[in-house]
Amino acid sequence: MDESPKIEFRWSRSVDEATPLARLFSDHVSPAYISHSELQGPRAQMPTVWSSDIATILEQDVRSRINQPLDAAANQETRLAAVALVDDAFAGVFLVTFNRIAPIPFCIVEDMMIIPRHRNRGLGKAFFDWIETESRARDIHRVFLESGISNEAAHRLFESVGFHKISIVMMKQL
Ligand SMILES: CC(C)(COP(=O)(O)OP(=O)(O)OC[C@H]1O[C@@H](n2cnc3c(N)ncnc32)[C@H](O)[C@@H]1OP(=O)(O)O)[C@@H](O)C(=O)NCCC(=O)NCCS
Repeated sequence: MDESPKIEFRWSRSVDEATPLARLFSDHVSPAYISHSELQGPRAQMPTVWSSDIATILEQDVRSRINQPLDAAANQETRLAAVALVDDAFAGVFLVTFNRIAPIPFCIVEDMMIIPRHRNRGLGKAFFDWIETESRARDIHRVFLESGISNEAAHRLFESVGFHKISIVMMKQL
């Protein structure tokens, strides 16, 4: 009998999925996740402190992505949400942007959150295989991501699938 789980990645295109996907995300955020974009937007108050309203903020973010086009028009970007399913149940959520505003279009993996019990089984790596295929299908050949400085397990995964550092972001609190 084949006991390996069925794994699937797909874009979320149903508003009914916004609440459970945002909940999957907000239930598992940790301070190590916070990077500069969380601080430059509404998500985090300080480098180690999330907004007290993080569940609502993430729900609005996920919801705003469900009906966006699956590819960006020229000089536009599109902000999408993707989901990982293991045996047809939600196992992870990913927020992704395809940007065609810059002369060289690019993909940004803005967020990845896999439920703890599904971690360290190759789902993160499988997501990168999938998003690379989705990017190439759009003739997009650059993928960016950023990550909280102490999120070392995530950095190991990113480097193992071919990402390398191109900048360091610093902040000074005045
Ligand atoms: C970061 C994250 C997305 C990685 O997802 P994941 O599914 O655990 O990733 P993978 O399983 O592909 O790889 C993680 C590790 O498991 C190992 N692994 C993969 N398959 C494995 C298996 N079958 N058995 C044992 N280990 C395995 C990988 O080699 C890797 O090892 P490493 O830590 O030495 O690099 C996940 O841990 C997560 O959601 N973390 C919380 C949110 C977060 O930090 N997101 C990133 C923000 S930038």
